[in-house]
Amino acid sequence: MNSYDIDLNKVPTHIAIIMDGNGRWAKSKFLPRTAGHKAGVETIRKVLKECQRLGVKHLTLYAFSTENWKRPKLEVDTLMNLLSTYLKKEVRELHKNNVKISTIGDIDKLPKYCVDELERAYELTKFNTGVNLNLALNYGARYDIKNAVIDIVKDTKCGKLDIEDINEDTITNYLSTKSIKEPDLIIRTSGEQRLSNFLLWEAAYSEFYFTDIHWPDFNEEQLQKAIYVYQNRDRRFGGLK
Ligand code: FPP
Repeated sequence: MNSYDIDLNKVPTHIAIIMDGNGRWAKSKFLPRTAGHKAGVETIRKVLKECQRLGVKHLTLYAFSTENWKRPKLEVDTLMNLLSTYLKKEVRELHKNNVKISTIGDIDKLPKYCVDELERAYELTKFNTGVNLNLALNYGARYDIKNAVIDIVKDTKCGKLDIEDINEDTITNYLSTKSIKEPDLIIRTSGEQRLSNFLLWEAAYSEFYFTDIHWPDFNEEQLQKAIYVYQNRDRRFGGLK
């Protein structure tokens, strides 16, 4: 059911979401912050299903940033547990629904039980052709760009790449998002209006949608609203219409 008049032929190919406000949601209900993250996983289920229904190709979720390690250990442990439990419990169902799981970010720094679940999930879903659920885990855009620069320099030094041939596409193709390219629409919940080190290079021509709603209260209808607003924007990519 569509609550908004969405044109199904113009659904964004790639939606990226900064899932913000779990802590504030929990606080407003006198619950621990971790309860907000648990409720946030429920929203992930709803949003992923809706992306499948609408034909979104890539859904990138900012699940854990390189800066999130600064949070209390209990909160970090809860987030890691939620990730591994989600994958353990749902990867089969996701596979049945043709969802492909991928990640961006340095997952080797995650606890081994998370890395194991992630590797199982990649392996099981790697040939799926439905929605690509791309989890940004221990991800930071500056870190990703720095790694791209290092790899470009290495490949230039060993003669694999000619300095004359380096252009913007070269950089795009050395980032961890190389196979999915830039997001058409970036959504951030909970009122903040910043990128917080998310997809800095890729966001150059993305449309932004900000909502005051906390992530645990975001739902299918809210996603439709974001897509509806996106479809009524005028994307010119720096040119004239
Ligand atoms: C931001 O809210 C949310 C996060 C830092 C983590 C989001 C992670 C999940 C919803 C669960 C991850 C699990 C899977 C399955 C990928 P906040 O804590 O910054 O909220 P606040 O700004 O109100 O404090």
